[in-house]
Amino acid sequence: MRHPSAMSAPAPPDSATPWDRAWQEALYAADGFYRQGAPAAHFATSARGIPGAGPLLAEAVVALAHRHGCDRVVDVGCGRGELLAQVRTLDASLHLTGVDVVPRPSTLEVDAWLVSPGGAALPRGLRDLERTLVVAHEWLDVVPCPVVARDDAGVWRSLDVAPDGTEELGPVVHGEDLAWVRRWLDDGPGRAEDRAPDRRGEVGRPREAALADLLGRVRSGLVVVVDYGHTADDRPRGGTLTGFRAGREVTPVPDGTCDLTAHVAVDALLASLGTSPATDPPQLVRQREVLHDLLGDPGPPVPHALARTDPQAYLDALARRAALTTLTSGALGDFWWLLVPVGAQPGDGRDPGIG
Ligand SMILES: C[S@@+](CC[C@H](N)C(=O)[O-])C[C@H]1O[C@@H](n2cnc3c(N)ncnc32)[C@H](O)[C@@H]1O
Repeated sequence: MRHPSAMSAPAPPDSATPWDRAWQEALYAADGFYRQGAPAAHFATSARGIPGAGPLLAEAVVALAHRHGCDRVVDVGCGRGELLAQVRTLDASLHLTGVDVVPRPSTLEVDAWLVSPGGAALPRGLRDLERTLVVAHEWLDVVPCPVVARDDAGVWRSLDVAPDGTEELGPVVHGEDLAWVRRWLDDGPGRAEDRAPDRRGEVGRPREAALADLLGRVRSGLVVVVDYGHTADDRPRGGTLTGFRAGREVTPVPDGTCDLTAHVAVDALLASLGTSPATDPPQLVRQREVLHDLLGDPGPPVPHALARTDPQAYLDALARRAALTTLTSGALGDFWWLLVPVGAQPGDGRDPGIG
């Protein structure tokens, strides 16, 4: 199991519940983690907390909106609207809507704000979106999902968890969850290591349903989900469920004191969309490729001559290059962007670039 220290303490009888239910309560109940404080207090994302990154992400959002003829931007799971605030400074003409589980921050200047139930559920008022770029940056990883593990006999079982994080094997997985597990967690019945009891993972179906629901609310535009994820090529055998509290990764405990997150099975997410001849196909692309396409290559050095003619411009260019390098390399560069065009695209004069 992944969290041996938590496994060692015996669970109080009958206190364990399926991980997905405990996860939902811990993050989105009335006193849940995301209703108590801003995500910024616990971890950094590209939207905020990484020097120079937020403005670049906003620049990418504005570029995508223009490319797709969108005059509205909706940020689902927007935290306290940090990304939208940056977008506003770049293009004041875009109509901006924030969606999160708390009321709109009083100082945030956006055109609309919707309070959401949280997790896979979206607010009723989010619908009929036209010419809209919908961004969901690090939303799906906090949509709770079932956690499963193989028992000693090689049978997939649900994992239950007690409020203190102690885990125990629950019921045998069946139905559509089992079909999902067989397709996306098993690499094939013939491989002995796939029947090993140390195998565990998260069932992505609730994330796929959440994305389908979001897409159903858009009439035209582009839906972009950005998250850390895995595919069959690199899916961790021990799952990815983890916690974050006050800037540190911690054992996931569903008590409302820490974030609970798991990487997104992005290949399954893409497959869940199917295909339609009526729209451009979705694209699943690494962040480094998207940002190189939208913002340029940070490789070329800033010319030294600029330091003499315009020192401030030189410093700004250095800072931008450093931030773009951060966003396009290492773990951030590996982030996945799933871009899903919805309805008619502008002029259908297709841009050869990403999205
Ligand atoms: C990991 S944080 C990301 C925040 C921000 N997008 C960023 O990148 O910094 C996830 C956010 O999603 C929000 N969230 C979770 N489920 C949601 C839902 N169904 N509708 C709207 N927001 C949701 C949480 O409240 C939290 O603010």
